Amino acid sequence: MKKIKTIEFKNDILYLIDQRRLPTSYEIFKCRDYREVDYAINDMVVRGAPAIGATAAYGVVLAAKEFLKEDRKDFFKKMDKALDELNVSRPTAVNLMWAIGRMRNIIEENKELTIEEIYQKIREEADLIYKEDLETNKAMAKHGNQIIKEGATILTHCNTGALATVGYGTALGVVREAHYTGKKIFVYADETRPRLQGSRLTAWELVQEKIPSKLIADNVAATLIRDGKIDVILVGADRIASNGDTANKIGTFMLSVIAKEYNVPFYIVAPTTTIDFGMKSGKEIEIEERNSTEVTHIEGIVIAPEGIEVYNPAFDVTPWENITGIITEKGIIKAPYKENIMKWR
Ligand code: MRU
Repeated sequence: MKKIKTIEFKNDILYLIDQRRLPTSYEIFKCRDYREVDYAINDMVVRGAPAIGATAAYGVVLAAKEFLKEDRKDFFKKMDKALDELNVSRPTAVNLMWAIGRMRNIIEENKELTIEEIYQKIREEADLIYKEDLETNKAMAKHGNQIIKEGATILTHCNTGALATVGYGTALGVVREAHYTGKKIFVYADETRPRLQGSRLTAWELVQEKIPSKLIADNVAATLIRDGKIDVILVGADRIASNGDTANKIGTFMLSVIAKEYNVPFYIVAPTTTIDFGMKSGKEIEIEERNSTEVTHIEGIVIAPEGIEVYNPAFDVTPWENITGIITEKGIIKAPYKENIMKWR
């Protein structure tokens, strides 16, 4: 397996693979302070729910390092502001708020210590979040592999691989596991307009790993499903409400509707850190709307007339009724989701 270092923290610098540049160039984006981390998340240098969470945690480490020499009152005040800023760098993926919440708790629990000691605790917590994500992905992959049949053809949407996490991936982690355990699988990857995470990132990972696959335009999926060419659909998640409604990359909902119509199993693969236990249903999930140029331009080339208005939501919500199961690191959750999700809290 190729080792993809999506996120690396070394010598007080956070190194990120610049996912805006893949697949044509492989560049590393360096964050030297938390503001650069904030920018990197917002501008999608790094993307994918678990990757955003781990990145934000290191953003907090960089903030603490910067404010080490402040007096106690200013240290806590400035840390609070940095945490607030990072917390809103993107709105939909709950792993971001989850990671920031965890860092906030560490500061709170250790506030009697010296600032240097608090900094050490923050650093340890970020490393723990990083380590846990990798372990979680491997566990999810093992659970998920149980539902993948020998010779299965899998359809996936957006990027859910090593690039979207600390490593291995969520839905693409299951694909990796099936491939490495010798199942002769085949993958169709949606290109995922408008940011093309499927073609830029998923296809890049599939090629790196030599996993048999084809890239398709998003509008091909319905035909493949109707024609019986897809055995199972695996996607990731950015936020799962406590009733099972799931926000994921725009286009996921459409896939789920077609899958239901043609009885194709539709699975979400996500760590329990993506579950928002406090949220009753998907109606409450804030859906990020991104810049219109993501739709009107490709690589700086204009593909729409000047003056056209654009609607560009980055995510949609798939209702729990369309979901066959949610594959987590603790096992596969099935309906009734309301009861079964709460068991993992
Ligand atoms: O806008 P992005 O690229 O951050 O969106 C990513 C997705 O929607 C992924 O499918 C999701 O985060 C699950 S990835 C492990």
